[in-house]
Amino acid sequence: MAEVSPGRARQVPLRHALPRLARDPLGALVHYANEGDGEIVQLNLGTFRPYLVTHPEHLQQILRDRVTYIRDGNSMLWRSVRRAVGDAILVTEGAQWESSRDTLQPLFTAKRAETLVDRMAVAIAEAVDALDAPARAGEAVDAMTLMSQIVCQATTRVLFGRKIPLADALQIYAHLGTITRTMVPRLLAPGMPYWVPLPGDRAFRAAVQGIGALVLPIIRKERANPGDGDDIIATLCRPRADGSQASEESVRSDLVAMFSTATETTIGVLSWLFPVLEKHPDVAERLYAEVDGVVGVRGTVQRTHIPQLRYTRMVLDEMLRLWPAGWTIPRTAVGEQVLGGVRIESGATILVSPFATQRMGAFWERPEVFDPQRFAPDKPKRQYRYSYFPFGGGPHQCIGQYLFLLEAPIIMATLLSRFRFRLGQPADLTPRIGASLRPRSSTLTLLRRDSVPAS
Ligand code: HEM
Repeated sequence: MAEVSPGRARQVPLRHALPRLARDPLGALVHYANEGDGEIVQLNLGTFRPYLVTHPEHLQQILRDRVTYIRDGNSMLWRSVRRAVGDAILVTEGAQWESSRDTLQPLFTAKRAETLVDRMAVAIAEAVDALDAPARAGEAVDAMTLMSQIVCQATTRVLFGRKIPLADALQIYAHLGTITRTMVPRLLAPGMPYWVPLPGDRAFRAAVQGIGALVLPIIRKERANPGDGDDIIATLCRPRADGSQASEESVRSDLVAMFSTATETTIGVLSWLFPVLEKHPDVAERLYAEVDGVVGVRGTVQRTHIPQLRYTRMVLDEMLRLWPAGWTIPRTAVGEQVLGGVRIESGATILVSPFATQRMGAFWERPEVFDPQRFAPDKPKRQYRYSYFPFGGGPHQCIGQYLFLLEAPIIMATLLSRFRFRLGQPADLTPRIGASLRPRSSTLTLLRRDSVPAS
């Protein structure tokens, strides 16, 4: 059989790609993914010409191979993230990544996550009960603030062993928000040297320092006297098997990276619950009925409830399909590669996007429709593992996946067992880009369950 020589990727010219991506980056990714129908597409953005790879078979090849397709710490996105968090588990490759992953992985196994359920449920119930006050007063609350208080409370208690007080955790979270916002001018001017000041630089530096001021004293204390706790701070500060101890800087990086990813992703995904409930009354009714049946009105979630919250999990899976917090996970090709019959030059950026593939007509029926039924347990298995990959895959697969899949149903069920929600503005399911994907609508009125008719 004649050998087919690798060809050039399907091209999207500058005059199409640039205005479309500038206008609506997420919509543009989905548009080009569908247009390519699984073929690799190269987007011409002038000096930057990334490849958009969307077919699950190609994605599997990329994500499972961390030698050929690396998370390049020097690419423009990661460079900005590194300026904020340093060389942490989230951004590095090689020995540094291996060491962080080996240290942290045992804290996040499926088995250990299960042992955390009861502690998580109590922390979450306490945070949700604090919403009684605004509910009684009929005050509108900001959906993001509400979710960040619940998630920061659960995260600091369960993952950080109460070593970061809630007020400090909320402040760190606010600083991380500033960092994300003020990073944008740098991302838009990737070639600009750091000695040229850009708007946002000063606030960015102040936020990085603000986080340092909150976490460094905790790290210093723990490093000087490492305990045997099973929280993230103790684990990072303890001497390793070979007797060496991670540097203060390295602990800070991993601590901030773990805090930011654990909070931002969870808050981002769960914030879709409110517009979904409002926009899909049929889904809301089924959810209410399930939570009332399993947890009861104003109940506390127990470990045994989790497998019974099946519809809750289906709704969560569908939220992760349409609004995966890690909406793009770029890679860089090391050496010239051939992928899907296409030649990819060394150093090229590859756009891997759960958001795009999970909305492709080639792999999903009515992909833009919110339909938890796709994830019903009796549905046939999906043809491709990588048509749905909100947690990535391969060696960099999300370390927090099991924890999230326990924490999120607890938060959903605890909220719904206590309150009903009214949005302050019409529900809008179009995401806006931040560090994760967020809804536009934001204010909520809470109705306590004993003051609304049971569903
Ligand atoms: C909705 C929730 C979450 C989503 C959608 C999500 C998504 C992802 C994705 C897509 C990756 C792969 C990145 C890549 O391949 O470059 C990843 C990695 C990671 N996630 Fe998550 N994540 C979530 C929650 C969490 C939580 C709760 C934690 C920690 C408590 C966490 C910690 C991490 C870490 C440390 C990595 C890097 C793993 C490595 O490179 O070895 N994530 N996550």
